[in-house]
Amino acid sequence: MNEVLNNIYTRRSIRKFKDQTIPADLISEVVKAGTYAPSGKNMQTFRFFVMQNADSILALQDVVGKGMENPSYTFYGTKALIIVACSKEDVNGVEDGSCALENMMLAAHSLGLGSCWINQLKYCGDKPEVAAYLDKIGLPEGRRVVGMLALGYADEDGTSHPRQEGLVTYLD
Ligand SMILES: Cc1cc2nc3c(=O)[nH]c(=O)nc-3n(C[C@H](O)[C@H](O)[C@H](O)COP(=O)(O)O)c2cc1C
Repeated sequence: MNEVLNNIYTRRSIRKFKDQTIPADLISEVVKAGTYAPSGKNMQTFRFFVMQNADSILALQDVVGKGMENPSYTFYGTKALIIVACSKEDVNGVEDGSCALENMMLAAHSLGLGSCWINQLKYCGDKPEVAAYLDKIGLPEGRRVVGMLALGYADEDGTSHPRQEGLVTYLD
């Protein structure tokens, strides 16, 4: 099997990370792969906000936990968090950002890193106290958070999910 397909078929969401710093060049390679995602009309609507400071990640985790009314909420001990956002005005912003997230998940896997899409800002990112915090840490006004990516060295294998029946229909 070629390397690209093998990488697609063996990627898993990782929800437990080692206490091991990710080299900066690997993080920038992952983000670069995100920027190379396709985008509607090549508008490149995705914007990437990279957090590596442990205290900053924990502080955001706390804000999101409060926003979700789940005090035990965690980002799985991630060593880096990449927030992907677009403008609320971008017609294809969510689609573009989703392609970027998938590119980054596959890039991470190919580089020996685990990752997991974290979606909670979709649900609580517009709550006033959460939105105010996102403003404070530097996300632009008028943003829509497409998703966050937890990134780190995997401390678990992840779960293999068999594909469901009937996903594909070939039409005449
Ligand atoms: C749109 C989207 C949102 C997701 N949100 C979360 C999330 O908030 N937390 C989480 O642990 N996993 C999240 N995931 C990961 C999925 O749970 C995971 O992809 C799915 O269980 C299949 O497992 P796999 O990625 O290992 O193939 C999300 C994935 C997608 C595509």
